[in-house]
Amino acid sequence: MLNIALPKGRLGKTVYERFAAIGCGCPELEAENRRLVFVNEAAGVSYLQVKPSDVAIYVERGAADIGVVGSDILLETQPDIYELLDLGLGRCRLAVAAPDGWCEEMSLPLRVATKYPHVAQAYYAALNRQIDIIKLHGSIELAPLLGLSDVIVDIVETGTTLRENGLSVVAEIAPVSARLIANRSSYQFNQERVAALIAGLEGKR
Ligand code: PRP
Repeated sequence: MLNIALPKGRLGKTVYERFAAIGCGCPELEAENRRLVFVNEAAGVSYLQVKPSDVAIYVERGAADIGVVGSDILLETQPDIYELLDLGLGRCRLAVAAPDGWCEEMSLPLRVATKYPHVAQAYYAALNRQIDIIKLHGSIELAPLLGLSDVIVDIVETGTTLRENGLSVVAEIAPVSARLIANRSSYQFNQERVAALIAGLEGKR
């Protein structure tokens, strides 16, 4: 049985459709319900529905053999896993954004609100810029509007949230997309199976 950690939500749904299209479906998962584990004995797969930011933890610790996670989370948490395939789904970017017309005061540490403290730290360390991280868990765009931070480091997909809150991108950090990852030791035992899966998923890209 191959345990697959799927991110709950829209990305997880699209990813599941990709797996279903290559013979790894699980009809019960398609019904609206609150279950978190779905098994298809015949296909030899079981799906775990987990919070997107937790997928890599399940895979790193072997609770799941493989999983699908955004490269933003991999950059932030640097888990000890194999990254096997860029699925080309959930494309967006990590960027720095600030209020429209914002002017940087170089003599002060930059106050950065973000869900990605390590990404922000690494980005500004490379620029030799001193920063003060304000770790938030959501609605990051609020922080500069209320004077809590100067800028934000966050995901930009359509740009709508920035636009509707009077913010704009001032620097690009990295492109983001969904990645197929595997637990290092379980991958040794499941290599052939996973290779077949990758071939199927690549064919569906
Ligand atoms: C994410 C991200 C931005 C928004 C970007 O937030 O943090 O706020 O999506 O998308 P857009 O460029 O298409 O507007 P999410 O919806 O995950 O909610 P959150 O604020 O609770 O993190």
